Amino acid sequence: MTEFTCNSFDFQDHLDEFLKENAILACMERNGRVNLITIGWKTIGVLWSRPIITVAIHPDRYSYKVLEEGVPEFTVNIGGPGIAAILNYCGSHSGRTVDKVKSAHVELRPGQNVSVPIIKGAHLAYECKIIHTAPSGNITRHKLFFGEIQDCFEQNPA
Ligand SMILES: Cc1cc2nc3c(=O)[nH]c(=O)nc-3n(C[C@H](O)[C@H](O)[C@H](O)COP(=O)(O)O)c2cc1C
Repeated sequence: MTEFTCNSFDFQDHLDEFLKENAILACMERNGRVNLITIGWKTIGVLWSRPIITVAIHPDRYSYKVLEEGVPEFTVNIGGPGIAAILNYCGSHSGRTVDKVKSAHVELRPGQNVSVPIIKGAHLAYECKIIHTAPSGNITRHKLFFGEIQDCFEQNPA
């Protein structure tokens, strides 16, 4: 693998892929247990003069509890064969009953600027710290989690 770090304000370089592809969000309990959830609802941009990824997570998801009560960080992992292989699985199984990292044989890499790991086989990986949350209002029951991008990585096979 080769790895390139991009400035967190340079997200427009990969905007097309970010917006079109479903993603795997990784979050972590305080005891270090990582959970993975497939997400389709996400956006990226600048808010409060900061580079921000916003995700919408339903309260029924185990990941919701982890984001609320666990480490206040997440990573968003997009594209590449490593992600395509696990999108269905992580979108149809819950971390309440299975350890998706183990059962889907997911290889993790330590985060550089957050304690939540990124996924080794992802083409793009974004490290975020949660700085704000908000309800979706009347639209859905999902809660919006606003993550300030700390760093982003493009991983390509050597
Ligand atoms: C393609 C796809 C996109 C999804 N997008 C979202 C989403 O944006 N937000 C959400 O809360 N759930 C979304 N889901 C549902 C969760 O991935 C699913 O309920 C998952 O099993 C929850 O896992 P957890 O209980 O470990 O958090 C999506 C599922 C799929 C298959």
